[in-house]
Amino acid sequence: AIDIKKLRDLTGIITLDPGYKNSGSCTSKITFLDGELGILRYRGYSIEDLAEKADFLEVSFLLIFGELPTAEQLEQFEVDIRKYTLVNEEMKSIIDGFPRTAHPMGVLAALTSALTAFNPKSVNVDNDKEMYQAVCKTMGKFLVIATWTYRKSMGYPLNYYDNTKGYVENFMNLMFKLPTEPYKASPIVIDALDKLFILHADHEQNCSTSTVRMVGSSHAGLFASISAGVSALWGPLHGGANQAVLEMLEEIHKNGGDTDAYMAKAKDKEDPFRLMGFGHRVYKSFDPRAQIIKKAANEVLETLGVDDPILAIAKKLEAAALEDEYFKSRNLYPNVDFYSGIIYRALGIPTDMFTVMFAIGRLPGWIAQWKEMRENKEPIGRPRQIYTGAALRDFNKPE
Ligand code: ACO
Repeated sequence: AIDIKKLRDLTGIITLDPGYKNSGSCTSKITFLDGELGILRYRGYSIEDLAEKADFLEVSFLLIFGELPTAEQLEQFEVDIRKYTLVNEEMKSIIDGFPRTAHPMGVLAALTSALTAFNPKSVNVDNDKEMYQAVCKTMGKFLVIATWTYRKSMGYPLNYYDNTKGYVENFMNLMFKLPTEPYKASPIVIDALDKLFILHADHEQNCSTSTVRMVGSSHAGLFASISAGVSALWGPLHGGANQAVLEMLEEIHKNGGDTDAYMAKAKDKEDPFRLMGFGHRVYKSFDPRAQIIKKAANEVLETLGVDDPILAIAKKLEAAALEDEYFKSRNLYPNVDFYSGIIYRALGIPTDMFTVMFAIGRLPGWIAQWKEMRENKEPIGRPRQIYTGAALRDFNKPE
């Protein structure tokens, strides 16, 4: 007979750490983050250097394959991604099934998942060639379907990837090119977007990345895992914060720009309102990405000649929070989402596409983490719990 008590002793003690505030879930060689000192590095390279000196596909290659690509490898990577940018025509009927008012993140999660129907073969992660192809396919198709979510919401015809242009320029074309007019994205815009994508490309075991690893740990495929990551990113406490920040700034502007009143609301424990774009689970001194983005936002607005009152409100809020005892004592500083929305707005990206922008940037990080998790042969993720429900009850149907 089974000795339950002995079995229970053998299963050991369960640590309870809601929100995994102090629990590591894996070892990783991809991203180094020091929240106390505000340091972020991809594969050992500082985020400041990468944002200034590298481009998004270079950084994607670095994150996924571990080393910066040579010029030849980078060119080949672009060519190989391009090969996979055609999306099955039947995907269009799936998009047509959504109402135009559907949130683009919901559509993106569904379309990413639908890609499994057209790419059913699971990747053999021990085969470098197969893995490389899966990476290129994901990078190519995801960009295209991400922009299709916007075209759908506008009722515009869907665009195709232009092989004569780079990855980030293609993003702008796929989004904004209309059949009736010539279109050329401004180099300033392309540069700013490239930088934003780099800053979002990975952030170790955040909510969406942990989701991608967790789903993948059951050996679900890359598209299925990434679709789950998109859903996790959507929430306003994670990637959805960039949309929430801009909506909050617009509301403050509409109500006369009284930032003090919103500061007071954020500090009132009876009021669920939080200052969106402030605070971070890991960064407790500053978010290095926010500093780079703040500078980029100023540059973009200046170069494009945009005089945005929303930026003035953002700066007023930031200054007030930096002086405020409540925010200081809780280490609440602007995070990456605080300024990204201001740039997106200046670039003409609609508010409900902001989190999709984040997803495009985060894609190489999700792929790199999924690949590492499978290559490390990590076990299936399966946390325990401490049961606090009813003890054994007699079964009697309620009268
Ligand atoms: N405004 C007002 N108070 C806040 C804020 C905020 N933005 N963020 C945290 N606090 C307060 C909490 O009320 C809490 O106060 P208490 O100690 O008096 O109870 C304290 O600061 C600690 O907050 P927690 O929620 O415990 O911190 P946690 O690490 O769990 O949450 C989070 C981090 C989710 C980012 C939080 O700061 C937040 O909700 N921020 C606003 C949303 C946001 O900007 N999210 C984007 C995150 S970055 C990213 O995903 C890319």
